[in-house]
Amino acid sequence: MNAPATTDAALDRDAAAPSGADSPRGRFPAPPFRSRGPVSAILLETLRRPAPDSDERPEGLALAVEKAISETPDIVRDDDLQLSLLILQGLHYGGVVPSDERWEWHPSLVAARVAIDAAFERRLRELIPVPELPDGDAESVAAALFTLTKPTPGPSLARFVAKQASEEQAREYVILRSVYTLKEADAQTWSVPRLPGRAKAALMEIQADEYGGGRPERMHSEIFARTMRELGLDDRYGAYLDLVPASTIASFTMMGLFGLNRRLRGAMAGHYAVYEMTSSLPNRLIGDGFRRLGYGAEVTDYFDEHVEADAVHEQIAGRDLAGGLAEHEPALLPDIMFGAKASMVLDGEAAAETLAAWEGGRSALRRRALAERVA
Ligand SMILES: [Fe+2]
Ligand SMILES: [Fe+2]
Repeated sequence: MNAPATTDAALDRDAAAPSGADSPRGRFPAPPFRSRGPVSAILLETLRRPAPDSDERPEGLALAVEKAISETPDIVRDDDLQLSLLILQGLHYGGVVPSDERWEWHPSLVAARVAIDAAFERRLRELIPVPELPDGDAESVAAALFTLTKPTPGPSLARFVAKQASEEQAREYVILRSVYTLKEADAQTWSVPRLPGRAKAALMEIQADEYGGGRPERMHSEIFARTMRELGLDDRYGAYLDLVPASTIASFTMMGLFGLNRRLRGAMAGHYAVYEMTSSLPNRLIGDGFRRLGYGAEVTDYFDEHVEADAVHEQIAGRDLAGGLAEHEPALLPDIMFGAKASMVLDGEAAAETLAAWEGGRSALRRRALAERVA
């Protein structure tokens, strides 16, 4: 682990959680990121305390959630709600906010997550109409997904990194990507027991690679953590979260939404297929970018690994995971295509935002003053 002093100094941990008489400071330390509004502030304060044995509710949480949901113009870009969802999903992953593990299933926090999940899903369905449905056999589903993800010429984030990103921009890229990649593949693993035969076997085949095929040092999240350390970045989860815009957080929380809700297993399968189908070529370009900047295999390993691995994964995910699921549960086909399109739209928007910032000579990170101290 590597913790540059600049980052620690930049993140005022105590600002996240005001002191209270019943808050045993030190028992559950604040995480390395701050709240972004009333909901996340209540959550971070709540998680510093032991979970009550009773049904006692954190003061004001339910109301704050309701108000934030009713007032947000767009939950996908809402800093407070996206960070709150990440914190709540983090109780299931672990390693996001240090806290009493009993909070994971405390009714008040489950209710908050369910309410935010529902609002997020509503917004996604409003923003992203289901694409035209292919026939329901596995080959047709895979073909439709490959068509949806066909590379287009013209500007892209990966091409920018390959050809012209500065050292600082390349580091920004890694910081933005760390929100998902330090927990790579975990969101999809929630779905394993929820899938039928062929789709389950396909997901496990992919996940076996994602988790290193029995070698912990080859877990993709671990290879990425090594890339961060090689770049002098802090690989603790959330160390740079303050710098990450809501749109990038939403790409990650959407995976948790699809993974943690059994009813959305179709969306998970479509999303994961697209994720794999849009990985191999961009990762080659990102690796090229770091090579151009003079970095060696210790930094490019993560990207190089995905050039080959995802050329295989995209076939399995398209035909056997998404296609196999459509054949077994035809009613899920619209959600498979919805999840696929949702990945294209949300990940595309987050990438477009980053690219627009860089092309405009700005940092892509939130709170630019802090961003400049990271470099
Ligand atoms: Fe991977
Ligand atoms: Fe993969």
